[in-house]
Amino acid sequence: MKDRLELRNCDPINDMELIIELEKEIFKPSEQYTLGFINWLCRNCANYSYIAFMDNKPAGYIISCIEDLSRGHVISVGVLRDYRKRGIGEALMRRSICSMAVGGINHVILEVRVSNTPAITLYKKLGFEVRNILRSYYNDGEDAYLMMLEDGKFEELIRNYCSVTKQPP
Ligand SMILES: CC(C)(COP(=O)(O)OP(=O)(O)OC[C@H]1O[C@@H](n2cnc3c(N)ncnc32)[C@H](O)[C@@H]1OP(=O)(O)O)[C@@H](O)C(=O)NCCC(=O)NCCS
Repeated sequence: MKDRLELRNCDPINDMELIIELEKEIFKPSEQYTLGFINWLCRNCANYSYIAFMDNKPAGYIISCIEDLSRGHVISVGVLRDYRKRGIGEALMRRSICSMAVGGINHVILEVRVSNTPAITLYKKLGFEVRNILRSYYNDGEDAYLMMLEDGKFEELIRNYCSVTKQPP
């Protein structure tokens, strides 16, 4: 039987513990966000954040937020090791970007470790491009790429994967 993937919108109250558990399993302690920040994200960014369930079991999550009205920011995305390379990360990214597009954004940014080839490859596949290097961005001193999805590449993703209905002016 084929695996069944479901992406559920984050529930700011009930899903916080699940996101923290997923984050602990996916990221090293030095890469995890503080409880307070996750709590803030769950309350303020729930509309654009999702948990992925494979056959009803939690498999990954994405947290994104809208900043300054027009900019979407992918803050954290991760998939449990046993579920990787099955399209879950890509599905989470698309769904989150589509929901932010409904919210009115016209570009998306994210930061990623320069050594994180799987994530960088995923982001490039979706149309993100490296815009800047952020020196010593992470606690351990590693640099980050600031990546951006905008203009034609942003519009292409929206056209191909989202059903965004623009509000009349
Ligand atoms: C990055 C991550 C979220 C990708 O999730 P995933 O579900 O395995 O990715 P997908 O199966 O959707 O892959 C989509 C595309 O990403 C790229 N990709 C994914 N894993 C890759 C790998 N190990 N090496 C190279 N490219 C990879 C490929 O382009 C792939 O497309 P393809 O299958 O057509 O080749 C996952 O590896 C992860 O959770 N890593 C640890 C946490 C992390 O680093 N998060 C990002 C922080 S910025």
